[in-house]
Amino acid sequence: MIDHDGIDPVDEIELVDTELGMKVPALPEADIAVDLHELEQLAPYNRYLLPSLQQDLEAVVSSAGPNLPLLPAKSEIDADYAVPAHRLLAADPEAFNHLLESISEADDEQGCFEVVAEGPFINIKIKRDVIAPWVIEEVLAEGDNYGKNGADLGRTVVLDVSSPNIAKQMHLGHLRSTVIGEAMTRILRANGVNAIRDNHLGDWGTQFGMLGHAFELWGDEIPELKNPSTQVTGLLKLYVKINQEVLAEKESSADGESPLEDAGRAWFTRLEEGDPAAKRLWQWTYNLSRAEFEEVYQRLGVEFEYTLGESLYSHINSEVFRAFVDRGLAAEDDKGRLKLVPSDEKMHALTIRKSDGSSLYGTRDLACLASRLHWFDPNEVIYAVGAEQTDYFKQVFDGFSQFAGDETPELTHLAFGPIELPDGKMSTRKGRVVFLSEVLDEAHSQALDRVTSNMERRGIEIDDEHIDQVAWDIAVGAIIYYDLKQPAGRKIVFDWDEALNFQGNSGPFLQYTNARINALLEKAGDAEVEAVTSSTDASYFKEDTSGVVGDLTMLMAEFPVVVRRAGTTHNPTLVAEHLYKLAHNFNSFYRDYPILSPDTSEDDRRSRLLLTAAASQVLKNGLKLLNIPAPDRI
Ligand code: ARG
Repeated sequence: MIDHDGIDPVDEIELVDTELGMKVPALPEADIAVDLHELEQLAPYNRYLLPSLQQDLEAVVSSAGPNLPLLPAKSEIDADYAVPAHRLLAADPEAFNHLLESISEADDEQGCFEVVAEGPFINIKIKRDVIAPWVIEEVLAEGDNYGKNGADLGRTVVLDVSSPNIAKQMHLGHLRSTVIGEAMTRILRANGVNAIRDNHLGDWGTQFGMLGHAFELWGDEIPELKNPSTQVTGLLKLYVKINQEVLAEKESSADGESPLEDAGRAWFTRLEEGDPAAKRLWQWTYNLSRAEFEEVYQRLGVEFEYTLGESLYSHINSEVFRAFVDRGLAAEDDKGRLKLVPSDEKMHALTIRKSDGSSLYGTRDLACLASRLHWFDPNEVIYAVGAEQTDYFKQVFDGFSQFAGDETPELTHLAFGPIELPDGKMSTRKGRVVFLSEVLDEAHSQALDRVTSNMERRGIEIDDEHIDQVAWDIAVGAIIYYDLKQPAGRKIVFDWDEALNFQGNSGPFLQYTNARINALLEKAGDAEVEAVTSSTDASYFKEDTSGVVGDLTMLMAEFPVVVRRAGTTHNPTLVAEHLYKLAHNFNSFYRDYPILSPDTSEDDRRSRLLLTAAASQVLKNGLKLLNIPAPDRI
């Protein structure tokens, strides 16, 4: 028999009353705390040059008419913003001219943009040469804080992230929730949000009953269960085995019934009712899984303020049933199941209690929402969960909104598409699973090959341990960026060559650019870089801004705007795309503008070093927001 005795069964927990008329568990202690003080130090958004300019322009434009937007100019127009004022021009040409004038006047003192009307379009072009020194100064003065702002101070958002299921290894699907959730958290914090990550572990449910029953039946036959390092694999084997047998039973029986499945359900009911032996087995698998997950989280460099699994909420199942029935928001059907009453008849009713009295995934999500509301009083709860759960979340959100009424926070399902390796789809039930840890290992070994040959080619010698660390940084960076560069909703088919291509639109390309800049600054020498960047006056920046230098300047100036927009639209891809443009432009600049060459004049060198230092800062800040490691050398 496997030794999983000696672990205390899950403790009884303290319940507290809430304004919602439903008891919830007392908030467990946080694993790490959010530093609210740090958030409060953030300066306002409009302290940045471009955001403040944009706000001024928006004010002028909107005062001329309610339907006049300030839009980013189309790429074929040589401008940065455009106001399409067709109606205004047609209805009132004088007002149109007045608007044109007011926009020009908005810039009287600074002279940092020009205004040109083209038919009904009022185009606004930022003068790169004017803003370049200002932007560089701004970036260097703000340093690691550049891009951060307090626009959303006072706002609290709970992020439901990662949330793998215990007794199984974490699979590739949970990668996206972890990666997107982490980037979203960092971006929200950069906008002043009190962002609380909660890892809603799948540690409860009928599948657990199946596993428990399988363990009692076949636990002794699975060799992997005897060895601590393979126990999670052993559990997965059990899970696959019982699912296969259930399927076989169903196929061979006339009525499609499976006694094995019934027994699994009964096992779960035992667990819900607090049977000590069942709880012990549960606790054992829980601890095993947590340790495995932890390794993956460390690799990915993520942490959570809370890891509150579904099991916590199983303590208030009866509260959920009662509270929803009392308000007429749930009703029993003819089979004795309790179902939510949707606000819209066309919506499918979510079952929250099975006929045998046990709870479901949705019961626990409703309980969890009530708890989060009581604990954190959030403005919003964001669920970074796969798109296959879209209908489910509609049901949960609908049920909860009816229940909590005006108290309901904004509820957002940040849905992402499936992720596949080129070989085909993964599925736990059929046993063809791709584990996240295997993918990380594969990325690491591929990255190691590339880094080693790179170093050899460039004649750089560094020790193995360092190379190994760099390979991990690249592997993790490649995976994270590959995920974030495409809009979340899209399906991802992993392509190693694309993800690890040092020259393409990839994490390693960004990391490589960063390392390249570091090497350059190092070569220039600390003293020189210090002299150039410590000056708060970048007015000696003299460079022709018509081409790539101007583009780089604009990309740096826009960075805070992108950070803001990525936060409000829940879209980390905006940051990823922006960083790619920045890195791409930097590389063109570096190619065309010699910096340390003996032929470069003193002034040019200082100017170019200044721009390089600023671009490097923005790139670093952006990588940090996406949680992509930025090794000094590659
Ligand atoms: N454990 C679930 C799964 O692997 C995801 C949980 C998502 N979060 C939630 N609150 N339902 O599919």
